[in-house]
Amino acid sequence: MGALALGQLALEPLFPVALGRVQLAPDPLDTAFQLQAINELRGGASSNPDPGCAWTGDLNGAWQLHRHPAFAPLIASLLGHARSYLQELGFDLNQVSLHLQRCWPVVSELDQVVGRHHHPNAHVSAVYYLNGDGSGRQGCLRLYPQRQVNELVPGLAVGHGGPLAGAQGPWNAPWIDLAPQAGLLVLFPSNLDHAVLPNGDPDDTRYSISLDLALSAPAVGEGETPPEYLAPHPSQWQEV
Ligand SMILES: [Fe+2]
Repeated sequence: MGALALGQLALEPLFPVALGRVQLAPDPLDTAFQLQAINELRGGASSNPDPGCAWTGDLNGAWQLHRHPAFAPLIASLLGHARSYLQELGFDLNQVSLHLQRCWPVVSELDQVVGRHHHPNAHVSAVYYLNGDGSGRQGCLRLYPQRQVNELVPGLAVGHGGPLAGAQGPWNAPWIDLAPQAGLLVLFPSNLDHAVLPNGDPDDTRYSISLDLALSAPAVGEGETPPEYLAPHPSQWQEV
């Protein structure tokens, strides 16, 4: 923490959630191929299946985009940024193995949403936006705090006519919205609750790719022992 100015209150953001963002500049032709490929994977379906819910590939057989030739190079570059994210969090990449579990497209038509959820099976999650103009019109990614410790009295931050003055600012925000932007990659802990707000743009279907990543111990040699705080490398598991 920095030095204190005499007599002045200083607030420090303790324990921040690590939201990673990388703006990429994809080749428009590659993006066009990827949009076409996603439309082919989606076929005649347009929801999940509730008409208000976006179509998501993980529920519809399209959960391994990283093995699809139109996406493999893109996904490989996204995974490089995921490794950087781990390094920024303090991980020694020699002491962990990073695995891509699942990688799927999400397509959101007008007014479609993805409800609030998190990914309990994964450790790091990521979203890459194939389109979006940064305005939020196509439906923001909404991130929710795990606990609102600064709220002091639970419920105040989302209350109506409560005692909080005006805009709640960063100390008591009930959520943070992130606008989709073509070529933007975001990374966050998988246990962070999130949702996708309605696509409000009748002229722009919203296309994104989700990734779930998991950490394990690196594979160890005969007679070696993996650290107890990580699952052993999946190649050393035994199906029973
Ligand atoms: Fe999600």
